[in-house]
Parts: sequence; structure tokens; C-alpha cells
Amino acid sequence: MTEVDLDVHHSDEDVTAALRADVRDGLTAAQKWLPPKWFYDAKGSELFEDITTLPEYYPTRSEREILAARAGEIARVTDARTLVELGSGSSEKTRLLLDALTSHGTLAAFVPLDVSASALAEATEAIAADYPGLEVRGVVGDFTQHLDLLPGAQPRLVAFLGGTIGNFLPIDRSKFLSSVRDVLEPGEWLLLGTDLVKDRETLERAYDDAAGVTADFNRNVLRVINERLGADFAVDEFVHESYWDAESEWIEMRLRASRETTVHIPGADLDVHFDEGEYVRTEISAKFRPDGIAAELAAAGFAVEQWWTDTEERYGVTLARSARA
Ligand code: SAH
Ligand code: TRP
Repeated sequence: MTEVDLDVHHSDEDVTAALRADVRDGLTAAQKWLPPKWFYDAKGSELFEDITTLPEYYPTRSEREILAARAGEIARVTDARTLVELGSGSSEKTRLLLDALTSHGTLAAFVPLDVSASALAEATEAIAADYPGLEVRGVVGDFTQHLDLLPGAQPRLVAFLGGTIGNFLPIDRSKFLSSVRDVLEPGEWLLLGTDLVKDRETLERAYDDAAGVTADFNRNVLRVINERLGADFAVDEFVHESYWDAESEWIEMRLRASRETTVHIPGADLDVHFDEGEYVRTEISAKFRPDGIAAELAAAGFAVEQWWTDTEERYGVTLARSARA
């Protein structure tokens, strides 16, 4: 097996300290919430990979269809020498871009960044083995904190796929897009995958599958808190729900307490009381409209170069270029 070095931007103690702070913030709020990055320990990353193959979870297939059709065009338009991928996970679909950019002849390096060290290690080893001559530099880090550390020859193409942009609240989303633009030189590229607004049933089922994989994935955040902070969440007593908020145009993932309980979280020096039926919001997944995406990108200093959808118009991919220094 090929050995690939990972740059690690946070120690295990940093991770535990960050979880402690997030748990103290989120679980003491009037409406309890937790940030989504805590789903993704080794088990969570595996469960997410299982989600991507579920019949109900169309975003992965729709995005793959678009990338398969457009990767050649993306390579020709960008001439990218470095492909950076944020929240890269398994980088499975990204291989379509790697194939097109290597046959186009410009690509020298691939720089995937993810909080999940296990997913990143697996992906970088497999890609280094399958793309000889390509420099692969995995970065274990948080894309809200470690963007300034991304190496690579210019022009860089930053891919942010999987609809993960939807997991930010709108205010954080605009900050994130600006921070990506800040690290790019004028003329460098962003490739952004966005799930689109559609009917409630399709959306809610994409996040609540019949086999219960998504439910297991959602509850994984409680297991992570149990393991890292010594908490005693009775994981099976929290019921998974997906809810389409038609006004905010986002899916909300919730874990609802099936009975009244007090959870002890010694690693955060905290006891948390749940009424029967009270829920924690564990994630939002915002859905987009083409005009909205273009406006948000423009506000962050990007110029849209191309916009594509799949044949069923469920999902969109935008290629944009950093328009100002
Ligand atoms: N890009 C892949 C995976 C999407 S799932 C795909 O399209 O299928 C979201 C990915 O983002 C996971 O791999 C998760 O570990 C990572 N992630 C979530 N929050 C993150 C953060 N704050 N910083 C870096 N990576 C993050
Ligand atoms: N980025 C993915 C999305 O918003 C993450 C995701 C898929 C997810 N299914 C989930 C997060 C279920 C929590 C629960 O589609």
C-alpha cells in the first residue's frame, strides 16, 4: 500500500476541547443544537458512505452525473494545476475530475482536506496508488479554520461537493464563501455542488431512509460525545427525524428524546435535562435556487463561469472564478 503523509492541523486534545466547547454552547441553548462536523469519526464516515448508495439519497448520484458530463470542460476551462477538495470524505466522485485533469495534462497535485482522519487516510492512499505521478497531500483540518494552509501551484481549483455548503447557516455560509475567496488569487477557481429546492417528500426521504442508515448516522453524534466526553446518552432512546422547513428552505435533522432524561457529560462538566419529546437539532441541509447561488457567490467576490444541472434538475454544480483580490 502506498504511504501518504497527512498534515494534521489539530491534536486529539484540540479536538476534545473543541467538542467540549460546542457541547457546552449547543446543549445549554434554549433550542438545543450540535454542529454537524461531529458526526464524522471513523464510524460516522463509514455510515455516510453507506448513505451515498441509498436509493432515497439522490444527491450523490445527481452530482456524479453532472461531473461525469462536465469534467472535461472543467479541465479545459480551468487549466488547474492543483485540485483542492474541502470536506473530501472518500473523494469517490472527485476521481472524475482527477481523470479529466490528468488527461488534460495540467494537474500536478491533489490536496483533500477533511476533519475525518480515517476517511482522508483511506482516500489519499487509494488515490496515490491509482494516480502515479500525482502529488497527493491530505490535510486533516477544519474548513472553517484551516483554509490559509492550503498549498499548491496555481491556478488552483477548489472543489466543495456533496451539498456540504448547505450544512452552514446562511450567515456562516456567506462568511465561509468569503474566506474561500480570500485565500484564492484572482482568476483561481471554485467548483460548488448544491442540492436544489424540491418537493417535501423527496427531500425528507433523502434524509430518512427506509433501512435506517441515516438514523444510525444521526445518532452517531451522541456516540461521539459518549466516547470523547464520557457522557451517558442512551443513544437508542433518541429518535431520528428529518423535517423540511419550507420557509427557511432547509432540511433539519433532529434527535428527539423518547422520554424525560438527564444526561451526564463529565468531560464538559455538564448535566443536560431533556423533557420527553424535546429535540436536539443536529444539522441543517439548505437547498438552493439557481438565482440564490449566483447572488451569494457574487456577494462573496466570485464571478460565475458555468452552471449545470443533472437531467432531472435535482442538483446543481457551479464553476466560479475569484473576481477580486
Ligand atoms: N465530499 C464528499 C463527502 C460529503 S459529507 C461527498 O460529496 O460525498 C461531508 C464531509 O465533510 C465529510 O467527509 C466530513 O468529514 C467533512 N466535514 C464536515 N465538517 C467539516 C469541517 N468543519 N471541516 C472539514 N471537513 C468537514
Ligand atoms: N452534506 C450532506 C447533506 O447535507 C450530509 C448528510 C447527508 C447528512 N445525509 C445526512 C447529515 C443525514 C446528517 C444526517 O446532504
